[in-house]
Amino acid sequence: MKVVIIIPTYNEKGNIDRIVPTLEEEIFPQIKNHEMAILVADDRSPDGTADQVKKLMEKWKNIDLISGEKQGLGAAYMRAMAYAIDRMGAEVMFEMDADLSHDPHKVPDFLQKIDEGADFVIGTRYSEGGSIPENWGLIRKIYSIFGNILIRIILMRFSIHDWTGGYRAIKKEVFLNESKKIKEVRNYTFQISFLHHAVQDGFKVAEVPINFTDRTMGRSKLAAKSYIIGVLKYCFIARFKELAFGPFGKFLVVGGTGFVIQFVIYNLFIKYASLPLAFGSWVAAQPAIFSNFNLNNLWTFKEDKSKGFLSYITKIVIFFFTSNIGVLFIQSGIIYILEYLFGRKYANFYFIFATAVLLVWNFTMYRFVIWRKKTS
Ligand code: GDD
Ligand code: MN
Repeated sequence: MKVVIIIPTYNEKGNIDRIVPTLEEEIFPQIKNHEMAILVADDRSPDGTADQVKKLMEKWKNIDLISGEKQGLGAAYMRAMAYAIDRMGAEVMFEMDADLSHDPHKVPDFLQKIDEGADFVIGTRYSEGGSIPENWGLIRKIYSIFGNILIRIILMRFSIHDWTGGYRAIKKEVFLNESKKIKEVRNYTFQISFLHHAVQDGFKVAEVPINFTDRTMGRSKLAAKSYIIGVLKYCFIARFKELAFGPFGKFLVVGGTGFVIQFVIYNLFIKYASLPLAFGSWVAAQPAIFSNFNLNNLWTFKEDKSKGFLSYITKIVIFFFTSNIGVLFIQSGIIYILEYLFGRKYANFYFIFATAVLLVWNFTMYRFVIWRKKTS
């Protein structure tokens, strides 16, 4: 495959002069099964990085250079990846810092994962065999380690150990699929956004442990405070969207409809009949169950929708049966006990409380029994 190592630079004259020869002389000769090239994405560095690159291009013919307006690291990568695909025929693209914090000797490990079928390989500092610099201060270490743990918790994706890192190998298909969805290009937050979109869309992620070392030349361009804010903002919003527009959000809408149906009938029951409240809530539940099943089937879990009349009947019967277990033993059960203890006066409060308990039971049932994902 054609592999392009993208190196973004802003004032990295000294570093680019070290990393390019290392790649060309030490790393590329080791790689036999891929065609290797380098693309430097410089943003008109005032220190003359571009001129340095042009000198290197005279010596090695597999180097390209693009220059652009400085609009942030994400923007530089987006531009460079599009160029690598369109103009260099890249099938795999690396993200690699110019400052040698990302050990070029790991490139073969990343390619190995690609060869094994991964779409998106990330260098990770926080899993077995990876590390952050010894000489970082305690505060910086804490930020770095807990930051990544916090991200994993907010996003509820635990199998990925390093969301923020910038040493990666990415297949062309991933970029083509995700580039339009990545909004956070101004800063370093795009790293999380890019990876998160790829994960959401089911691309195969693999990890390579890396030992991140501090740069010895030049200075970091990361603005810590705005970076932390940007990361947290992205994570919370992305997670909220996933919940609200995913199955859980729809489940709440459907459940809300069912709740209204049952609540209205239950209240008619209280008004016009003097049978036990628990019985009234059970009767009122039946039309609500019918409505819930059909809405969920057509909307919430439509990918796993029952196909054909027989499958529909089977599912609705199972649905009525499992729902009624909850409705009888949890909802009516709680209402029965409460009426027995406190009388009919707080009938609506009993109903709301009992329904809240039922909610938890129902979602579990829907997801894991009726519309469970087929594992194949
Ligand atoms: N073209 C371009 N434009 N390059 C940039 C820009 C920009 O606006 N900003 C930074 N770079 C380049 C730098 O010249 C360097 O080669 C690379 O991007 C990384 O920048 P550093 O300033 O060295 O970043 P860092 O070491 O603080 O951050 C590292 O860790 C972050 C957090 O884990 C990087 O690996 C980031 O990618 C990573 O997100
Ligand atoms: Mn750096």
